[in-house]
Amino acid sequence: MALDLAELSYPMQRSCPFHPPEAYAPLRENQPFARVRLWDGSHPYLLTRYEDIRAVLAEPRFSCEPVREGFPHVYEGRMVADKADRSFLRLDNPEHDRLRRMVTKEFTVKKVQALRPYIQATVDRLIDNYAAMPQGSDFVEHFAAPLPTDIITLLLGIPYEDHEIFHRATRIQFGSRSTPAEVRESLAELFGYLDALITRKEAEPADDVVSRLVHDQYRPGHIDRITLINIVRLLLSAGHQTTQNMTALGVLTLLQHPDQLALIRADASLIPGAVEELLRFSSILHTGARRVALEDIDVNGHLVRAGEGVICSIPAANRDGELFPDPDRFDVTRDAGPHVAFGFGVHQCLGQVLARAELQIVYETLFRRLPELRLAVPFESLRFRHDMFVYGVHELPLAW
Ligand code: HEM
Repeated sequence: MALDLAELSYPMQRSCPFHPPEAYAPLRENQPFARVRLWDGSHPYLLTRYEDIRAVLAEPRFSCEPVREGFPHVYEGRMVADKADRSFLRLDNPEHDRLRRMVTKEFTVKKVQALRPYIQATVDRLIDNYAAMPQGSDFVEHFAAPLPTDIITLLLGIPYEDHEIFHRATRIQFGSRSTPAEVRESLAELFGYLDALITRKEAEPADDVVSRLVHDQYRPGHIDRITLINIVRLLLSAGHQTTQNMTALGVLTLLQHPDQLALIRADASLIPGAVEELLRFSSILHTGARRVALEDIDVNGHLVRAGEGVICSIPAANRDGELFPDPDRFDVTRDAGPHVAFGFGVHQCLGQVLARAELQIVYETLFRRLPELRLAVPFESLRFRHDMFVYGVHELPLAW
């Protein structure tokens, strides 16, 4: 299929909510280093092949710092939020590693293993609450959002009751239609909130991540206050909105693929593999991992010049037939292991062990406890998050 590159604007529309935009497959086949046009008139590369994407994400000469000239900004409002972000997600090495190491110990396999009983109890409590509500209640509002919010606020030591503040911040800062002024106002509110939280932790430390950062890193001068706020903000936002959207979209995907749902219901040992397949199939970071070349770099035979931006499409990589045979088929029994839904390289997701634990417990418990779970509205009436930085479904009314 011949594609007119001049016409390729990004982000692209999906024609089916479960699949990436249709243009990705022919691009991967014919123009794996396609140029796309962004809202600001810039023309970064859109990469769609798994091997090229892994090569870029593993290459330290590609920077992930949004303040650099040529970095691809997918939405105007998001550009404001990204440029203000001084967390390690938006910093290159060596500073990235120095800051990330301050929190890696908080998200290890051992830590998450110890947290599993609490996650299970929270899932059970939320299912009890949800099942007591009227049929057709929104699963996103009453289950998918509260679960990861409860877990990440517990770990960080943030009062759960304050969640509307950071849920609102996430809605504005990650929405495609937010204006720069709205994003600035939202950032100011969130930074103010986190600043006050840190002041409280200085006076009254507790057994939580923020207290440890305050007393082990900020007080001795290893990080300044704004960096501390940025790290907490990253953990808070990454910790709730990704898992929230993956939870709801995963439930919907399983409900729409009853043969696959029947398999995991019949054999719970399939659930960890099913979670990997859901992560691959959904690829909720749908606007990609973005980078800019610091010098001329050869990527698998293609020269990317210094200052050129690159969008590594995670959904496209995860549907590459070279890696995943029959890639558009949702198959909970396949080996989805090498997917890049959590990214790749030094910025690979810090919270992936936690996210996996939450998702595994949700899918196992939910379909066991509510065996009649089903959509309460026509599929066509659902609103998908085409307009958000993280993909998913806005509301999910279910019956049981
Ligand atoms: C980074 C995906 C859950 C914390 C990333 C990246 C991806 C990702 C793709 C890399 C971005 C890039 O290279 O530009 C996901 C998905 C999740 C999830 C799909 C859930 C299904 C979580 C959770 C946390 C978390 C629960 C909890 C704290 C982080 C952090 C980074 C990150 C801190 C930055 C890592 C770095 O720059 O070194 N995530 N994530 N994520 N994620 Fe997640």
